[in-house]
Amino acid sequence: MFVGPPRSEGPSSTPADALRKLQEVTDAALAHLELDELLDELLTRVRDALDADTCAVLLLDDTGTELVARAAKGLEEEVERGVRIPVGKGFAGRVAAEVAPVQIEDLDRADVVNPILREKGIRSMLGMPLVAGGRLIGIMHVGTLELRHFTEDDTSLLQVVAERVALGIDRALMYDELVRVGRVQRDFVALAAHELRSPASTVYGLAATLRARASDLDAGSQAHLRETLYEQADRLRRLVDQLLDLSHLDSRTVEISPTRVALKPHLQSVAQAVAPIGDSIHVRVPDDLEADVDAAAIEHVVGNLITNALRYGAPPITVTADCTDRHLRIVVEDRGEGVQDEFVPYLFDRFRRSERSRTQARGTGLGLAIAQSYAHAHGGDLLYTPAKPKGSRFELVIPAATNG
Ligand SMILES: Nc1ncnc2c1ncn2[C@@H]1O[C@H](COP(=O)(O)OP(=O)(O)OP(=O)(O)O)[C@@H](O)[C@H]1O
Ligand SMILES: [Mg+2]
Repeated sequence: MFVGPPRSEGPSSTPADALRKLQEVTDAALAHLELDELLDELLTRVRDALDADTCAVLLLDDTGTELVARAAKGLEEEVERGVRIPVGKGFAGRVAAEVAPVQIEDLDRADVVNPILREKGIRSMLGMPLVAGGRLIGIMHVGTLELRHFTEDDTSLLQVVAERVALGIDRALMYDELVRVGRVQRDFVALAAHELRSPASTVYGLAATLRARASDLDAGSQAHLRETLYEQADRLRRLVDQLLDLSHLDSRTVEISPTRVALKPHLQSVAQAVAPIGDSIHVRVPDDLEADVDAAAIEHVVGNLITNALRYGAPPITVTADCTDRHLRIVVEDRGEGVQDEFVPYLFDRFRRSERSRTQARGTGLGLAIAQSYAHAHGGDLLYTPAKPKGSRFELVIPAATNG
């Protein structure tokens, strides 16, 4: 509700004036700034263009349920205190929920969540959704310390400005993401080269020794060298295969060809292929369970999980499968020590191995990263939870039409 005389009837008095203000905030030079600089510059210009005292931008968080203060002018505490407003609650939450402009003429009589607005003595506010590519990415609002009725011209100006701000933020966020991906790729190449160097130089050293000095060595030493050469070459081959898999998965060129698969015989043959004779893997799957899935991907993921259970876990190792809510769930469990709590956040990272596992078996730390990428490529996921009463429990979930 509006009470008392308006401080002004809005700043856009003439069309030329409005155009100039618009140009100030849509200045092409701003397109090259990084997100923080861009917001810093834009917020000042928006505040001035609307002759307001404060201006703030709140962005939707990853879950899409809360707004997080990202930049502010005249309301810096909002960002410093990391204010979060649930969508639908208070003033900012309402702008986001309605995806429409909202005006508060008198803050004293309004429902606001953010205490800083009152602490700062803000009286009137105008909020606008930030939409880019048809998607809500946040909201922006301007406020005044005196009572003010924002006119239609003010609303139109803020609307155009909000479009520009949303595009700028979207572009800057995309740029930040590209920088992040670039950094990840550089790290990946460095790590891959590092991992390849050791078996590659061992293979070269062994081959060079055999070539130059075979005649000086007795048959036993030659056989030993050849065996080591074979092992290292095998390690190198597997590593190159893993890196190629990851590269296909990253570039999304991995082929997914679902066919109807009878799961019990399929999982039994995967277990047999991976587990050396004598290792008993219990495959507990309904006889008639079938699903439309990529048999090779299942083999890859489950084979990897069983290998890990044999390496780092302890028997009994069980493989179970069932189908609920149009999803196929395959669980591989063991009764070993499980994954240490402090290592769980890194379990699916590339090239990560726990300190303990380094003493248990040779490995690259790529198995689970690849398995999870396969799951994602199928629109599913690979999850870890500790098993009960002890051990590890890995669950592969993939959307699949089934007979179940
Ligand atoms: N069943 C398990 N029980 C306990 N720890 C596990 C289990 N499976 C995996 N881990 C831990 O997770 C780490 C990462 O596993 P991942 O399969 O990605 O790599 P790796 O087995 O070390 O090497 P690679 O599979 O590339 O040969 C392992 O090194 C181990 O520390
Ligand atoms: Mg592994």
